[in-house]
Amino acid sequence: MKHVIGVDLGTSSVKVLLVNQKGNVVHEVTKSYPLIQKQSGYSEQDPNQWVEKTVEALSELVNIYNPTNIEGISFSGQMHGLVVLDKDGYLLRNAILWNDTRTTEQCEQINTVVGKEKLLEITKNVALEGFTLPKLLWVKQYEPEIFEKTNVFLLPKDYLRYRMTGAIQMDYSDAAGTLLLNIAEKSWSLEICELLGINPRICPSLVESSDFVGTITKEFAEKTGLSEQTKVFAGGADNACGAIGAGILSEGKTLCSIGTSGVVLSYEESEKRDFDGTVHYFNHGKESAYYTMGVTLAAGYSLSWFKQTFAKDENFDDFLQGMENIPVGSNGLLFTPYIVGERTPYPDANIRGSFIGVDSSHTRNHFIRAVIEGITFSQNESIEIFRSSGKTIDTVVSIGGGAKNKTWLQIQADIFNAKIVKLASEQGPGMGAAMLAAYGCGWFHSLDECAEKFLEAADVYEPITENVEKYRELFTIYQNVYKQTKEMNESLKQFRK
Ligand code: XUL
Repeated sequence: MKHVIGVDLGTSSVKVLLVNQKGNVVHEVTKSYPLIQKQSGYSEQDPNQWVEKTVEALSELVNIYNPTNIEGISFSGQMHGLVVLDKDGYLLRNAILWNDTRTTEQCEQINTVVGKEKLLEITKNVALEGFTLPKLLWVKQYEPEIFEKTNVFLLPKDYLRYRMTGAIQMDYSDAAGTLLLNIAEKSWSLEICELLGINPRICPSLVESSDFVGTITKEFAEKTGLSEQTKVFAGGADNACGAIGAGILSEGKTLCSIGTSGVVLSYEESEKRDFDGTVHYFNHGKESAYYTMGVTLAAGYSLSWFKQTFAKDENFDDFLQGMENIPVGSNGLLFTPYIVGERTPYPDANIRGSFIGVDSSHTRNHFIRAVIEGITFSQNESIEIFRSSGKTIDTVVSIGGGAKNKTWLQIQADIFNAKIVKLASEQGPGMGAAMLAAYGCGWFHSLDECAEKFLEAADVYEPITENVEKYRELFTIYQNVYKQTKEMNESLKQFRK
């Protein structure tokens, strides 16, 4: 039987999935790599590590499965990270990642020079530290010699694909997160480039996520064991691929995803809806479609930070054991997940997290549940924004960390006051990438047809009225914490290293 590979280039690891024509994941390999955090607010990675670890993962997989049966490969990638290459295609510095918040000054510059209104009109988004354009301007200002040498800029998975095929492209769903794309016209904004002194020639050529963009180079084939005939398809932003892999392919469908960051995203048919920049608005990995999205910067990361700090050596299942017996609201303990700043609904790089209401009766399990409730409250802020624009959010497909734990799934149902659907084989963005390859290879006429064949709902979690009421009250208190702690966090900033 024929197979495709979905490569999910995440923030903490790369996951490689081998998927057959029935949509079954036949094999998966994950390899981790570190973050480089030279100071508070900085977050970088060495792109060579992405390539090295992907090569290791692919070699392991190809060692077991016949490479001639692997027809295509595609990608899902962490968004917004800036990779700069010189004229010979060599890296000029480490990648500056989506969760790096050093660029407040450059966001202000964009707002002043381009103007908030024009920026919103062209890109449908506001200037945020995490996006690529502010990072490019940071390099221009603080590393002018590197900026001068920059021949092209790429996003993480585009760099990996370039090393695989030797060709340079970027797809619309990822380009939308650069803040340089006219998202309605699907072209680079020459106007923004000109206003900010960026030569548009450093913007790569644009393709659709399912476009065939080349085959594997001889060198890469030798390193991994893949056949040189393997067809490579462009791939998409991790959130667009998460949406594809969860079947968010038509109006009315909503996704909740927990990775390092957490997102709530909802399908949009056109670029026409207006959220005035309160949530992101990006091109989908499905042609001519869009999605709106709110982002919690530290979702899975809040929980892994807590575990790493207080229960380093425990495995995750043991760590979460007992959390299900803690009552709704964690006996008055409230957590805000702003440990690296926040995006939605408070685009604020300075805010930091809090535990409010710590009581001598609280045990470790109360803290764990409070962290999970806090992450979910943060995601509910986006759901509320969608609802207040007139969208109906009554069913949400849950993927990622949140979908791996029954108690968390029920917490999502109760806080979102919506049905939560868990998929039978929940593989997140990696499955979306594999689906792009399957569709690209011509196995299906559309991504929708592929989703029908590949995806299946396993469980549904209904909201429990009594819990919904309690969480509604707690959510109001939660929303107050940001306002009450903003000023304190401004004062504390000087003490951070
Ligand atoms: C989305 C965002 C994150 C990254 C994580 O805007 O910054 O979700 O895509 O990889």
